Amino acid sequence: MSKVIIVSNRLPVKIVKEKNKLSYQPSEGGLATGLGSIYKEGNNLWIGWPGVELKKESEQHEVREEIRKENMAPVFLTRQEVEVFYEGFSNATLWPLFHYFHQFAIYDQKLFDGYKAVNDKYCEIVVEKAQPGDIIWVHDYQLLLLPQMIRARLPGISIGFFLHIPFPSFEAFRLLPWRREILMGMLGSDLIGFHTYDDMRHFLSSVSRIAGISASKGVITVESRSVEVDSFPMGIDYQKYHDVASSPETIKREIDYRTSLGKHKLILSIDRLDYSKGIPQRLYALDKFFEKYPEFIGIVSQIMIVVPSRDNVGEYKRLKEEIDLLVGRINGKYGTIHWTPIHYFYRSFSLYSLSAFYRMADVALVTPMRDGMNLVCKEFIASKLDQKGVLILSEMAGASKELSDAILINPNDIDQMVNALHEALIMPPEDQIAHIKIMQESLKRYNIHHWVKIFFDRLNDVITRQKFLATKVLDPHMIRVIREKYDKAKKRILFLDYDGTLTGFHDQPQKAKPDKDLVDILDRLSRDKKNTVVIISGRDRRTLEEWVGYLDMDIIAEHGIWIREKNKDWETFTHLKNDWKSDFRPIFENYVDRTPGSFIEEKDYSLVWHYRKVETGLGELRTRELASHLRYMASDKNLSVLEGDMVIEIKNSEVDNGRASERWLQHGQYEFILAIGDDWTDEDTFLAMPDDAITIRVGRSSSQAKYRIDSFNAVRDFFKELL
Ligand code: UDP
Ligand code: G6P
Repeated sequence: MSKVIIVSNRLPVKIVKEKNKLSYQPSEGGLATGLGSIYKEGNNLWIGWPGVELKKESEQHEVREEIRKENMAPVFLTRQEVEVFYEGFSNATLWPLFHYFHQFAIYDQKLFDGYKAVNDKYCEIVVEKAQPGDIIWVHDYQLLLLPQMIRARLPGISIGFFLHIPFPSFEAFRLLPWRREILMGMLGSDLIGFHTYDDMRHFLSSVSRIAGISASKGVITVESRSVEVDSFPMGIDYQKYHDVASSPETIKREIDYRTSLGKHKLILSIDRLDYSKGIPQRLYALDKFFEKYPEFIGIVSQIMIVVPSRDNVGEYKRLKEEIDLLVGRINGKYGTIHWTPIHYFYRSFSLYSLSAFYRMADVALVTPMRDGMNLVCKEFIASKLDQKGVLILSEMAGASKELSDAILINPNDIDQMVNALHEALIMPPEDQIAHIKIMQESLKRYNIHHWVKIFFDRLNDVITRQKFLATKVLDPHMIRVIREKYDKAKKRILFLDYDGTLTGFHDQPQKAKPDKDLVDILDRLSRDKKNTVVIISGRDRRTLEEWVGYLDMDIIAEHGIWIREKNKDWETFTHLKNDWKSDFRPIFENYVDRTPGSFIEEKDYSLVWHYRKVETGLGELRTRELASHLRYMASDKNLSVLEGDMVIEIKNSEVDNGRASERWLQHGQYEFILAIGDDWTDEDTFLAMPDDAITIRVGRSSSQAKYRIDSFNAVRDFFKELL
């Protein structure tokens, strides 16, 4: 049976070695929780680094056996590998560059070589464990080369990739000497996910400018494979944080902390020690806040939790010293015997303690200079059972795209942070409740389980589409079979879409005119008395009349509104239909699920999807995707899809290409039926064809057609074969 293999740098378990004894602590991280429902099932598996150096084979064996019970498999790294791969290329090259701290990035061939070697080591374990039909989901910046490495060894396997940190703009990414290798590494995947639309946009731009491969509707075609790219903002386990916040253990800790801290108002910040988190900037703001609003001295304290992280990397060590100095300075400057401005903890806390801090905090101050998502701000909102509290959030955090009801700040603007602190501390409770309520509703819906489901659903869709496409290339053998059928038939009909099928120039009317080669093909096809040739086009009838009207062919113009049989006048026909809404509502719901801020409006005779409140760019992207999806679904239902200002609407329509072409099929008995087209409007035609018809889609998109062919030139060659 096929299985899912998750691969990330770290395993969802912490292994600690003390006095030669190994202990195992399950990880409470969001990813581990979200993927828990997957990797723990059946023979699914999570592959990763146990985070501890074990030299002895006996110890490695012990770990391997112990975690195998939990569906995990370890990748053991030596001290030297940790240095070059983890501390080196991952955290001293990629991390700073991807977070726009390129001045900290070290570019060293030895580090890249080490990174490559360790990615290869992960690949070995994946290959050892994977079977045909498995799905592999690779995570984060430590394993950017892995998808392509797996693809090279297991070409048919399905691979998803998710980047948890920002993807930088092309201008930053291009600084990386190994930029092409990194991109090609990622492009080994079938689906690549990012937290935000901006990350995705940056990635596509780098793929286009560095690898010279362009994307259409978030689909990149690499050699003969298509790779889909999209944004999937990651949520938290909302229910867990909500429930823990009311647990006796959390309440006990809150009482304990409150007893020590007194009645002071509290500003909370929780981060790993990292320069991307904007910790010094926040301290500058706090200093300025007390200067500007001295009435808050003795009234407000900050609880600042800094979790030790990557302390062997140079920049992290320097940052620690800077923070220590700043905290000392502020506490020395404003502190009194009865009051401490900053309660600074350089360590990690249990979930219950964190929950108590979230509950107690009047303000959460989350100020990263850059952050892929940031989960702390979401956990704070989920823990607010009384809905009182204010979130100040950096607009540089991915989470800011979803949490627009926070006070959004630019962490480089210290004055703005000072004003935001003041605004937060004097905000009336009813306003606090109103904002938190909206954010809670969103976080509840777009939680971690939803994220996992949406990613997997999409990956499965991609896999299905690829399988569907893979079976249908119109190869020389098939062409011979079609030709034999064509030769034998006494009565044939050919429905030929025009733009994109017979010519390649949709957007350049002058070039779209039939050239000599095309006229010759059409003329020969239509002069054969056994053939009825029907040109189908969205173009207006006058243009078609002028371009091909003199040939011995029938024409369907303006997507079926106008019809002209040879030697007759143009005519039009209409009819109405309406009982389709219940089929389409779930599709709209699916897009609302995947697109925070969007909503559905239901009218008597139409369904409308609104996206004016969606993150800029993402709405436009989704609407293109939804339009395609709807057109595909609506093609046999006499409905039309209209794109308007920040809306997309599906409604009853009159006729389409399919209905128009049915008219020919009803009136004649054909032994050979062929329909060929290149876009969604041609799907109507394909669907209207009988089972034994030969339907051909030009290009690589998924289709109802039985076969596909690469380009309009290939279409012309195909007809030359028939003639
Ligand atoms: N966290 C933790 N122990 C602590 C402090 C924080 O487990 O003492 C968790 C926190 O609850 C959050 C995560 O660490 O889930 C930090 O995630 P975030 O996305 O905010 O930042 P990252 O560290 O991934 O850059
Ligand atoms: C970020 C990264 C993760 C990483 C985590 C902790 O969230 O996206 O991949 O695991 O930080 O960092 P560490 O270096 O301790 O694994």
